[in-house]
Amino acid sequence: MPLAPALSVDVLDRLKAQTRAEHLAMEDALGLMRDDLLLADYRRLLERYFGFYAPVEARLAGLLPSDPLGGLDFETRRKLPLLRADLAALGGPAADTLAVCHALPPLRTPAQAMGCLYVLEGATLGGVVISRHVQRTLGLTPDSGARYFHGNGAHTAEMWRAFRSALAGFSASAANADAVVESANETFRSLRHWYVRGRAA
Ligand code: HEM
Repeated sequence: MPLAPALSVDVLDRLKAQTRAEHLAMEDALGLMRDDLLLADYRRLLERYFGFYAPVEARLAGLLPSDPLGGLDFETRRKLPLLRADLAALGGPAADTLAVCHALPPLRTPAQAMGCLYVLEGATLGGVVISRHVQRTLGLTPDSGARYFHGNGAHTAEMWRAFRSALAGFSASAANADAVVESANETFRSLRHWYVRGRAA
């Protein structure tokens, strides 16, 4: 009888495959890679991200399992300070006066937190491409409003690898793996809906 595939590695493949549709929908909704990207649209996007990351990161901090995260310090992965710096650099309403998302993905268990963090950490990969695009189209650098998309900078690949290995360890049980995949999709959906509602407002 063939050996069952190792669940821990399997979950990483499953996550990528089973969130692919949501990732594409997100890319479409954001429209960030347009050549005619406007500064006003870019700022609006950062405002909505701020309103999402603020409550989500607060919940994650209380939920993330300390064991699997062993070598991973969530504090160094927080993106709210980067969004705050970008909003300040661009001028406009102060970050703390912005609307905050209440329709969050369910975040009650460590597995849900890991699924959510997968989405936020994965976003740093796209960030590499987006940050180059934002520099080319809007002339923004990490110091002048593109700190969030610059993200983990030169450490992006290394931090992503470390996260994936923690996630694989955590998801070694089938129940955790299912919950992680479901939460990742809920996170994509929740952020997308929040962003789209802001654009319509
Ligand atoms: C225009 C917007 C976006 C672009 C162009 C983009 C692009 C990319 C790219 C190039 C990768 C790396 C693929 C690879 O190396 O295998 C990636 C991975 C990923 N992105 Fe995005 N992305 C965008 C938006 C987002 C957003 C908003 C999120 C979440 C909030 C996100 C979450 C992820 C995740 C979770 C992965 C990891 C997939 C995996 O390997 O498991 N992306 N994205």
